[in-house]
Formats: sequence, C-alpha cells, structure tokens
Amino acid sequence: MMMNKYTEEYALYLDAEDPLRAYRQEFLIPDPDMIYLDGNSLGRLPKGSVKVLEDAANFQWGERLIRSWNENWYNKNTELGDKIATLAGAGRGEVVISDSTSVNLYKLAHSVIKMQKGRKKIITDDLNFPSDIYVMQGLVNELGSDYELVVLRSVDGSSMNFEDIINALDQNTALLTLSHVAFKSSFMYPMKELTRYAHSKGTLVLWDLSHSIGSVPVNLEDANADLAVGCTYKYLNGGPGSPAFVYVRNELQDKLQSPVWGWFGDDQPFDFRIDYRAAGGIRKFLAGTPPVLSMMPLETSLDMFIDAGMDRIREKSIRQTSFLIDLADKYLVSLGFRVGSPRDPGCRGSHVSLQHNEAFRISKAMINPGIGERVIIPDFREPDNIRLGIAPLYTSYIEIYDAVMEMERIVKEGLYASVDNGKDTVT
Ligand SMILES: Cc1ncc(COP(=O)(O)O)c(C=O)c1O
Repeated sequence: MMMNKYTEEYALYLDAEDPLRAYRQEFLIPDPDMIYLDGNSLGRLPKGSVKVLEDAANFQWGERLIRSWNENWYNKNTELGDKIATLAGAGRGEVVISDSTSVNLYKLAHSVIKMQKGRKKIITDDLNFPSDIYVMQGLVNELGSDYELVVLRSVDGSSMNFEDIINALDQNTALLTLSHVAFKSSFMYPMKELTRYAHSKGTLVLWDLSHSIGSVPVNLEDANADLAVGCTYKYLNGGPGSPAFVYVRNELQDKLQSPVWGWFGDDQPFDFRIDYRAAGGIRKFLAGTPPVLSMMPLETSLDMFIDAGMDRIREKSIRQTSFLIDLADKYLVSLGFRVGSPRDPGCRGSHVSLQHNEAFRISKAMINPGIGERVIIPDFREPDNIRLGIAPLYTSYIEIYDAVMEMERIVKEGLYASVDNGKDTVT
C-alpha cells in the first residue's frame, strides 16, 4: 500500500507496525497528551523502578538496615556494570557503576597520563560536552605547563573532519577523548576506525558514551576500545542523578591506577588496613560509598534494554529520527528551521537538533501550557538548537508527527512572540 509519508495516517501505521510498541506501557506516563522528547537528558520513569525504590526504602533500608549491604548492595556496582557491558559489547568485569561522568573522566584521564610516561598531550574537540573539556583543562592545570590540551575545532559546530584528528595525533599524545555521540548535533564518530588510528600512534582513547548508551549499538570489544564513561540518567532511565559508569578494557585494568584511593577501591575494605592496596579488576575505579538508592532503579531499565535488544532499538531509532527529519524538511525548513544533525543515519545518534534563530522562544512556547495546543518537552542548547530526543522504548511515531505539527503552528502563527527570553537555570 502506498501511503503519503508526511501524514498522521502514516505515523499511526508505523506505530501499529512497531515491534517495540508494547514497551511504552512499561513507563509511567501520567499525561499521555504531553509529548516528551527529552529522554536524552532525563529518561522517563519505568513503572518497575517505582516498586524497586519502594522495596529499597521500605524493606532493604527500613527493615533490613545494615544487613542489606551483604544481602543486596555491596555488589550492585559490578552487577549493574555487567548489564551495561551487555549493551556496550564489553565483557563481564569490564564495567562498573561509579560516581558521576565528570569524576570518572578525571579518574581515567589521570590514570592514563600516569601510565603514558613522557607523553604530554591530551586531544579533544569542541563538540564534546563542556564538563568533559573542563575536566581536561583542570587536569592539565594540575599537571603543569609541560602538559597541553588541544581542543580541535569542528567544521560547523555539528561535525568533525577526521583528518583534523588524525593530523593532530602524534607520538606525544597520551590521550584522545571524545563524545561518541555529540550532545548538541548528534554527530556520531566511527569508534573502531578512530581507535585503530590512535593506537597506531600509541595514544589511548577515552569515549564518553552518555548519548550513545541505550540509543545506538556500541561494541567496545569489537572496536578494541580502551576506556569509556557515560551517564545512566539519559537513555538508560536511571533517574535524576543516577550514578555513571566506567569501562576499562580488561588488559588495561592492571596497568592503570585510579588517582582516588578510596576504601571502596581497596582490595579488602573491611580489613581496615592503614595502607591502601588496590582491588584487582574494575573495582579499583570505585572510590567511596556508592549512592545506593540512586543506583537501584537502573536495573529495571537495563533489563528492558537487554530484553528489547540494541539492534531492534537502533532500527526503530533510525526510522524515527529519519521520519522526524523528513517531516522537518516538509513542514519546518520553509519557516526558518535548519536540520542541525547529520542526515546520514549511520553518523547520527538518537536525537535530532533543529536550529532556528528564535529557537529559545520557540522551545519555551512548546513547553508552556496555554500557548500551543499541546505541551511538548524538548530541550534547548545554545545558541540555536532545539534538541528532540527519541527514546525508542517509549517515543511513538504519532508523538513525533504531532510535535512537528505543533512546532509548525507555533512559528506560522507567531505564537512564540508572546514568550519572553528569560531563562530558567536548567534549559
Ligand atoms: C556527553 C555528556 N558528558 C558528561 C555529562 C555530565 O555528566 P555528569 O553530570 O554525570 O558529570 C553530560 C551531561 O549531560 C553529557 O551530556
């Protein structure tokens, strides 16, 4: 059957044919009229996680108290790490839940600098998340004036010329650190090729997987990746402030040393020895007591991802982001919007940035009730990006269609003109 692919009918058809559609019911959606396109910043709450949190509070903490450390909590960091490893093509014992992404970046970058004796350069790019760049600036500042951070400039704020990276890598480069999927534009690096090239120069690579884990298939083993970190509160739906993860390739674990010698990274924390002895394996990258309650809800969501399978999730994500770009071309480009994400799905993550000179006021009009017909939640990233995050386990095609129609109305009818330019702290 030939169907017009720019219509509501087509969106409803895609939803009816969607093999993953049942997963949406696993999430708490108290207002089905509100269109949530910000799962790339804070994922929705899985219904199962509410029960997990209740049990963690009432039973594990309330009733079992300190006994829960042995019964349930002490090995959670590595148990959840192994589940993330399943999604990231890593092996058991290569991933652990720990701290925040920023802190993990520091721990890993510092440990690489110590290992790569004599090499004094760290390379990153300006597509990287600012916190990642700040952490590297802080590290170089701590190391002294012999050390250098090179921040490569992107072509157009959206993508990177690989030649620029390849030309910058040399025998003095200790570390290349990049976001696998760029937070603004959704541009995705070819992990395997860049890793191979960096290795040919003796450089280790540290990937930030915050925008790729749970949204694109990642195969760390196949890419021969060295190190990675990532957030769990975005596509993985771990909840606000859920702790991040660390990946260290097996063979590197013995060679690297965390700069923070906390007791949770010790071989036998409850020996209470005076002298630190690093734990073997990935545990050495832990530092202090983990935030147990913040870590617990992640498990329900990880089980859902493993059950659904990253290949199927990626297939839907590509169909959905492509559908969104097709609709944007048809309905929004003539209104001053530009597609700020790669058009080639092979180079794109699971969010799409639509740029507009009035992006901030348009995004505010989308969010504020009473301006458009529906409330739509995207996020705004300076200077002109409206980011629309597609989370295939709960985003429907009809939501994408309705969101584009609403954006068209907001701009066509000038509804954003009544919105001021005042910004909340979090955009
Ligand atoms: C790509 C990327 N890296 C790092 C971070 C910061 O993570 P954290 O707050 O866990 O340090 C973010 C936050 O949004 C991010 O998008």
